[in-house]
Amino acid sequence: MTALHTVEPETATGEAAALFTATHQALGVIPNLARVMANSPAVLKGYVGALTALSTAGALPASLRERIALLVAQENRSDYCLSVHAFRGTRTAGLSAAETTRARRGASDDPWAAAVLGLAATMVRDRGAVPNEQLAAARRAGLSDGQIVEVVAHVALNVFTNYLATTARIDIDWPLVRHTEDPHMISIAPLTHVSPEAAAAWHTVVSASLAHDLPEEPRPTLDQIHAQLTVPGRDNRRLLWQATASDGAVVGVAALRLFTSPGQSHLSQLELHVAPDRRRSGVGSRLLATAVAAAQAEQRRSLIAAVGGNGPGDAFCAARGFRRVLALDHLLLDVAQADDAAADAEHPGYELASWTGTVPDALAEAFAAAKNAMNDMPMGDMDYGSQTWTADRVRAMAEVLADRGDVLLTTAVLGKGEMAGYTEIVIRAGETHRALQYDTVVVPAHRGHGLGLWVKAEMLRRLRVEHPGIVEIETDNAQDNTHMLAVNRQLGFRFHRSTHEYQLDLPTT
Ligand SMILES: CC(C)(COP(=O)(O)OP(=O)(O)OC[C@H]1O[C@@H](n2cnc3c(N)ncnc32)[C@H](O)[C@@H]1OP(=O)(O)O)[C@@H](O)C(=O)NCCC(=O)NCCS
Repeated sequence: MTALHTVEPETATGEAAALFTATHQALGVIPNLARVMANSPAVLKGYVGALTALSTAGALPASLRERIALLVAQENRSDYCLSVHAFRGTRTAGLSAAETTRARRGASDDPWAAAVLGLAATMVRDRGAVPNEQLAAARRAGLSDGQIVEVVAHVALNVFTNYLATTARIDIDWPLVRHTEDPHMISIAPLTHVSPEAAAAWHTVVSASLAHDLPEEPRPTLDQIHAQLTVPGRDNRRLLWQATASDGAVVGVAALRLFTSPGQSHLSQLELHVAPDRRRSGVGSRLLATAVAAAQAEQRRSLIAAVGGNGPGDAFCAARGFRRVLALDHLLLDVAQADDAAADAEHPGYELASWTGTVPDALAEAFAAAKNAMNDMPMGDMDYGSQTWTADRVRAMAEVLADRGDVLLTTAVLGKGEMAGYTEIVIRAGETHRALQYDTVVVPAHRGHGLGLWVKAEMLRRLRVEHPGIVEIETDNAQDNTHMLAVNRQLGFRFHRSTHEYQLDLPTT
């Protein structure tokens, strides 16, 4: 119960009544804080006047005023004011939930806001004793002396409301935020059973993350995500975690692949996404730490991750000790415009063979032998290891794709008693627009005769006939894979975007 008298609006008269009316107009409510302040109409008038002057004629925008209020409330442990400004910050000042959390720590993603909050933090922590160097730094960041005076004023006004709320033990009439709790307190838990709800929550996070960073890219469907999470791999195990906020919302997801084939038993691969409005509050770091601990427990020495070029993943990986080991160019081919004339070329002694799904038995051994030629693909400095293909393994990999509902098209070049090369295209379940290039290989003894271009041109022709709805093909090539890039350019592939592969070297015991 509030420790000081509260003036009820219905019984207020004179100046207090007029001030309540003004407060109601401004906020839509008459908060308990105003009802206590009204014990002294002079104080209420002075406070409302100062606040109105600063918000209408002052030089600091609402988003900054709310951030200062959050910082000062946190420092003064005022749950009342923290609740007010967490609500107003997100509802009326356009701050994301993550920004309100960061403001409470005196941090911001925006350098200008960070300079103001740094100043305000010193004022409130050191009772106004801001060192000369910090004042100079604030001026260098672009703050005028008028703005610095306003920062002091906001700190002081918030100290006043914090102290009044605490002195009066005012009942909190806003969605409760406690200074002892991070309102987005996150728990990280393994996801061992992928229910339809869990897959939907995963899909929501991944879609929001991709929409934020790569708005032009198609996003996976719910069915594709469900299949990705539930269909067991043949050469890897998958561990999954989700980060959940205290309101039950899934705010981040991490999938760790642990490769099981002998040449790659040192390797783990991470996919990590944090919902855009929950970023920069440590969720990614906690999911990463959980995945790293699991990878180490599994005796992995390398953790690799792919990130969109120049997105937040680059800064995150750099901050968390990863090395960049490979740069990839993603290319797109407009199927309607592509040049498939090379399919008509004569290659005496060679013939083409095509199949859908699992390789025919008669070609399985030769196909596995050709797949082993992929091991010399340029991989930069990545500790990728090597894969040994057998007929059984190529069949098993085709089964994984089939289990997910994906279509796998392969066209191969046969000659001189072996498979000289092949190319693979995958059309994900339910996909109507973009096909994905998987492997293209010409085995070393057959290189330099245009077989790569031939087999890819034939595949293009085949795709046009068998899947006429597909509009484009996406491929990715290491930036130094000059031969493959040249073949792709000749077919009409154009640069689309780049991605970076990162590697974290894990200490092994
Ligand atoms: C990369 C990603 C996972 C980071 O998640 P997050 O929860 O924001 O990460 P954290 O809050 O733990 O950030 C840790 C540190 O990384 C760095 N960092 C992260 N995002 C950054 C950004 N956008 N700009 C600059 N630095 C950034 C900072 O040093 C940060 O510490 P700080 O906030 O104290 O300054 C998230 O942005 C995301 O989902 N991106 C899209 C998918 C992706 O790239 N995944 C990476 C796979 S490894």
